[in-house]
Amino acid sequence: MEQNRPQWGTRAGFIMAAVGSAIGLGNIWRFPAVAYENGGGAFFLPYLFALLTAGIPLLIMEFTMGHKYRGSAPLTMTRMNKKAEWLGWWQLAISFVIATYYSVIIAWATSYSFFSFKLTWGDAPQDFLLGDYLQVVDAGQFGGFAGGVLLPLVIIWIVSLGILISGVKKGIEAATKVMLPVLVVLFLIVVVRALTLPGALEGLDAFFQPDWSKITDGKVWVAAYGQIFFSLSVGFAIMITYSSYLPKKADITNNAFITAFSNSSFELLAGFGVFAALGFMAQQQGVPVNEVVSSGVILAFAVFPQIINEFPVANGFFGFLFFASLTLAGLTSLISIVETFVAGLQEKFNISRTASVLFGGGAAAIISLLFATKGGLNFLDVTDYFINQFGVVFAGFVEVILVVWVFKELDSLKQHADSVSDIHLGAWWKFCLKFVTPIVLAYMMFDNIRQNIAAPYGDYPTSFLITYGWLVAAAALVVGVILMIVKPFDQRSKGGL
Ligand code: PHE
Repeated sequence: MEQNRPQWGTRAGFIMAAVGSAIGLGNIWRFPAVAYENGGGAFFLPYLFALLTAGIPLLIMEFTMGHKYRGSAPLTMTRMNKKAEWLGWWQLAISFVIATYYSVIIAWATSYSFFSFKLTWGDAPQDFLLGDYLQVVDAGQFGGFAGGVLLPLVIIWIVSLGILISGVKKGIEAATKVMLPVLVVLFLIVVVRALTLPGALEGLDAFFQPDWSKITDGKVWVAAYGQIFFSLSVGFAIMITYSSYLPKKADITNNAFITAFSNSSFELLAGFGVFAALGFMAQQQGVPVNEVVSSGVILAFAVFPQIINEFPVANGFFGFLFFASLTLAGLTSLISIVETFVAGLQEKFNISRTASVLFGGGAAAIISLLFATKGGLNFLDVTDYFINQFGVVFAGFVEVILVVWVFKELDSLKQHADSVSDIHLGAWWKFCLKFVTPIVLAYMMFDNIRQNIAAPYGDYPTSFLITYGWLVAAAALVVGVILMIVKPFDQRSKGGL
């Protein structure tokens, strides 16, 4: 089995796949608003700090774990220490939940790529989004399918699962090698166009205007770490899985730096593009930029269509480029997150890759239909919030504590990384993982709990928050533990080291 383990064809192929995973919807619709709200130009200091003291060290740690133990997250954890398998499954269950709704957002972006040509959303894009397209009903109700979402969703799943069935090298690597460069080119065209619109400079001014008073605010630092963790896809099992397909001699540390800096560069580029476009819109409407800043679903699917409506020329074309960029950025992330549980199931149950994709990916596809109902946006909003706040952050914390403090793996991981990498890890790496990362993650965890008890998320009924928020996050952990108990790994868990 070990000899048959799939491998990336080239170093560039691996880096592109890792960067493709990291660059996702979060880079485009999350980063610009987070930076703006947390000090603008002054945010770059905490952001860079978080990148160097937590993001990159964790990425190096996950790359090294995958490379050393050569398995999906559960197998990697088991090989590290038999008692840690459940953590891998927990992370896979979290990834599974994320895949079910992330795919739906990509489906919206696909629809909107086509809507762009005729500006189907009309003069009131927000009403179109919530009314005509998603047909949103009250929280807790399903209300049947939102018809327009189904077809693109089915297409997204067929494409993703088709790529995954084709394998690591012929599927994921080959597809990312096309999708990532195309994404960068399309997005660059959108950004250059945005920068040349009237009002763009005012937008950039608002974005970069440093508010140094924020630097002493703890919240800003937490926001910086939160953005870095999410954006780099660490704590999701993704990077462990991807690095497990590296050839034995592949460099680790340098690859981690390249991945992290490429991701941040794209994020910065998105900041330029989004704020230039917002500056343009503010000028058209004669309002200050701060009145038009938004993020997430509303930014992408309500505000952007409005901006595109006001483009002086070729609206449809630029609309298409923007939504096609969102689709591509999302697709490479979706593939990476589905690969985590495809790999895990395949190894655990000793089934073929195709069976694992159809079974695991198929299950995620079927559950994703829940989010394609008229109640889908409410379910999506709550599930996304809770699985990130109480899934990814918690699992990331437990991972660091187990690896660093309980199983005391840092020295052997450092040795392993140094034996194959150009750059050798200094004392800073161990220091950051021993102290900075766990402290920040622990703080984030307690702060999340405190905030949610003080003021429950959104305007949802409590029972809805409990079922689709708390219970989903808790279920990921329970499912993780159950999967560990189901059937032990066979002797492979001892081999291959
Ligand atoms: N880095 C991704 C993003 O910015 C995070 C992610 C990865 C989310 C994979 C879902 C799936 O969107």
